[in-house]
Amino acid sequence: MPMPEIMCGIYGCISTDAADKVLEGLRKLEYRGYDSAGLAAIFPEQNGPIETERTIGYVADLVSKANGRFTGSCISIGHTRWATHGGVTDQNAHPHSSDDGNITLVHNGIIENALHLSERLSKLGYKLSSETDTEVIVHLMDNEIKTQSDELTYLDAFSNVISQLRGSWAIAAIISGMDGILVSRNGAPLVIGRGVDNISVSSDVQPFYGACSEVAYLNDGDIFYISGSGISSQEGSMIPGFETLEGVYDEEDPGNFEHMMLKEIFDQPTSLSNVLSGRITADGRKARLGGFSLTPEEIRSLDRINLVACGTAYYAAEIISAYIRKFSNVRSEAFIASEFPARSVCSTNTLTIGISQSGETKDTLDALFDAKKNGSNISAICNVIGSTMSRLTANGAYLHAGPEFAVASTKVFSNMVATGLLFALTISEISDAEQQEIVQSLRELPNLISKQLIDDDGSIDTAAKMIHDSEPPIFIGRGGMSSYLAKEGALKMMEISYIPCLALPGGELKHGPIALLSDGSPVIAIVPSDGKMSLMESSIRECKSRGARIILITDSEGPITELADVLIQTNKTHPDLSPLVNIIPVQLLAYNVGVLRGVNVDRPRNLAKSVTVV
Ligand code: F6R
Repeated sequence: MPMPEIMCGIYGCISTDAADKVLEGLRKLEYRGYDSAGLAAIFPEQNGPIETERTIGYVADLVSKANGRFTGSCISIGHTRWATHGGVTDQNAHPHSSDDGNITLVHNGIIENALHLSERLSKLGYKLSSETDTEVIVHLMDNEIKTQSDELTYLDAFSNVISQLRGSWAIAAIISGMDGILVSRNGAPLVIGRGVDNISVSSDVQPFYGACSEVAYLNDGDIFYISGSGISSQEGSMIPGFETLEGVYDEEDPGNFEHMMLKEIFDQPTSLSNVLSGRITADGRKARLGGFSLTPEEIRSLDRINLVACGTAYYAAEIISAYIRKFSNVRSEAFIASEFPARSVCSTNTLTIGISQSGETKDTLDALFDAKKNGSNISAICNVIGSTMSRLTANGAYLHAGPEFAVASTKVFSNMVATGLLFALTISEISDAEQQEIVQSLRELPNLISKQLIDDDGSIDTAAKMIHDSEPPIFIGRGGMSSYLAKEGALKMMEISYIPCLALPGGELKHGPIALLSDGSPVIAIVPSDGKMSLMESSIRECKSRGARIILITDSEGPITELADVLIQTNKTHPDLSPLVNIIPVQLLAYNVGVLRGVNVDRPRNLAKSVTVV
């Protein structure tokens, strides 16, 4: 069975020294995570086989292997590939070429009917030389061009091939003798950029900063030919217009930090300031989160608000729906996007909000499509400007966290929670005094977190040393927000340390999981000074009396601290903001354990930044 190509990066360019620009574009897409890379290029006046290179490893390896061979090219496409299992080989890396080398292409997505198509191709005499589903596309192109009638164009051949594919794709293809790039998008992201000296195509807008001033967004089903003179299509297709490219590019540069993840954890005072900026009234008393197509009054009269998200974004969504329930009378529930029961929870009097860093997560996009189909209003809370989700919903709020490069999400989690809190306060029905108290604490939060980050008493390091070679840790919290934070803590730890972790509401331990505890098992207890503190104390005692070692994260200085084997003291804040303070030691703990275990914390195995498959 051909292996699917998923979550890859595509960059293509028409310009002088096109391949150099493609290599630079691929470098800027590296944050998405990949295990092999490749490129292809056409030179001026070229006829005959297209020059290609591909390799397992990094873009830097590709540059060495290419060894200057692509200098002077005028059209180029490149790819970073990320495989799920096995098959990280030069043969499986993209681009894939026709047998005569005159057609070559890169692909992101899954061709679901690849097996059926490869059987058809084998009857036509084609042999696949890789394990990928992508290769069928290039042989189909070859066959189409060789068999179509003379008056038809390469774009016609490409369209005919696309019409035979089932599944999801972003494709960029070049053909010897052609002066442009054929592109198509269906369920995987692809955008076109235009600058003074280039027209380019990319999996996201990130590499366009500094190279392009305008961007055109492709829609699912689009099939275009891009050349120096712009975008063209078959008759009757809508060509997307170019818009000004908004936003700024931040270089993936850890500066004085050892890893991007650590830098991004330390970015949080700034990213939190950015998310609050312009969203609090001038008198500092109320939250005012704009950008939603429904007014606060309309939202207040809805039957329910559904939040759909995955992974870290889902845990943020759990906290956000707790805020909505607490501050308004609207019913709200968070759903794992791939489990969203749209038919039972959507109607015209509901709002479904997708929460996402990338705005490209397929499961979340599918849930939003489903919500819309079932009559719900849809909005997005996401980080990437111009992402598929922000364009699909055309309303909602950006997270303004800046690009997040480390695969494990950190600063975006905090900005999701903060944005969700602003949303809940904007639609809230609590008293002005109560709102003012929370808003005041929110405004103090960036400084508080900054202090938390700087005041290192060594406790996180001690806790990390306790965990890194111990029994699997259990994270516990209580009272909604802290138990959701416990889940995020366990996810973060698993992602970058590869240690299996469990997360539970403290009260659930005694109903089964307590059987896992033995002498020395680490239990990470998240205990803000809120109404659940004494119940948490009971849960901690239950663990301690079974030999567990307690890593206690708390702002309390009271008797509970005596239960700690390692005490991680946090700064006091409003109890509703505790997830935003407690997430800091939780993230640092995961980071330290990952580093102690020698994991590449910025690029943990098997994970990618943007998950564009179901
Ligand atoms: C974990 C992590 C993932 C993402 C999830 C959703 O650190 O990053 O769990 O949160 O894949 O991604 P987005 O937010 O891009 O929709």
